[in-house]
Amino acid sequence: MLKTIRDFEVSQKKVLVRFDFNVDFDKTGEILDDYRIRKSLPTIEYLLGKKAKLILMSHLGRPNGEPKGKCSLKPVARRLEEYLKKPVKFVPDCVGPAAEKAAKAMGPGEIILLENVRFHKEEEKNDLNFAKEIASFGDLYINDAFGVAHRVHATVVGIPKFLPSGLGFLMEKELNTLSKAMKKKLPPLVAIIGGVKIETKIKLIGRLLKDADHLILGGRIAYEILAGKGLCLAGPFPGEDILKVLEKIDITNPKLHLPVDAAFILKSGNGGYFRNAPLGQLRKEEAVLDIGPETGKIFAEVIKTARTVIWNGPVGKFEDERFAKGSLAVAQAIIKSRAFSIVGGGETSGFLKKYNLLKEFDFISTGGGAMLTFLEGEKLPALEALER
Ligand code: 3PG
Repeated sequence: MLKTIRDFEVSQKKVLVRFDFNVDFDKTGEILDDYRIRKSLPTIEYLLGKKAKLILMSHLGRPNGEPKGKCSLKPVARRLEEYLKKPVKFVPDCVGPAAEKAAKAMGPGEIILLENVRFHKEEEKNDLNFAKEIASFGDLYINDAFGVAHRVHATVVGIPKFLPSGLGFLMEKELNTLSKAMKKKLPPLVAIIGGVKIETKIKLIGRLLKDADHLILGGRIAYEILAGKGLCLAGPFPGEDILKVLEKIDITNPKLHLPVDAAFILKSGNGGYFRNAPLGQLRKEEAVLDIGPETGKIFAEVIKTARTVIWNGPVGKFEDERFAKGSLAVAQAIIKSRAFSIVGGGETSGFLKKYNLLKEFDFISTGGGAMLTFLEGEKLPALEALER
């Protein structure tokens, strides 16, 4: 039985809490969408109310095991201060003397945020000494990072080996809501997968094709598959690892819906031109950045039939308005269908926030890959670690 934050006496205790504060920034360094930060507040406020000492940690981006300014969590500390109306001390490392000193000096009701755990390669290698050092700063560990629950990383699965551990409120809510939704889901189920992070998603295609009535693929995942199968000459092109998985994907499966056209730019020359064209007309000098209008119509026809929709990942590079049309077509088709809609992932919630559509969907999960992994019935390493 999994323990939750309520099962512990937390007053005066140093509580290490793992969140997923993986947010995007605009060109001026402003946080674009703080949905994940807002969703962390119930756990933080509960612990503050109990006069615990809060040591918060998270990853941000993929800095490849070394410090990178644009992946710093410092802006997250400032945003937390705005919401909590109290100081959140930012500690410029998650291990070493600075972190140790800051943790020791804490009083009840105080909060520190440690710098990005992925600034150390030990995090993604699930190095146990690294996990043990961080664990030594606290008396107990709470995992509230649903978005990263599918990763076998030190602060997700390593730390629970050294401390009494449990779930936070966000993790609990995500698991309960997603489990309930899957139990009472009505067919037809339409799953829509896009986005740029494809390694986790591509491995789930086989399962999704079994469980869903329709699987729609857009965005990078779709065009890498099409390029890998020789049906699109323009990029993005799949790497070796993706090519291996591709061998097992049967794109003639009638449940699978792939793009038939694309919005693209000339790769060199800073986007010298952009156009829409059927797949067969694309050339290797061009890069696809959105689904095309024909594809939008075909996808909308499929979505129209749905009574349950699971959507993870925009189908185009929506940050550039020229390439937001595909994701807007998908969003509008889901809204029109009146299907029960579960949407997940930082990019997707960022897109919906930008177009003021968040309220139109039934449940917005903070997890992308984690949500799909859970919905497809795979074990989440974060939960297995807490069960142990
Ligand atoms: C996400 O944005 O899906 C989570 O924060 C996990 O990030 P990752 O894919 O870099 O592990």
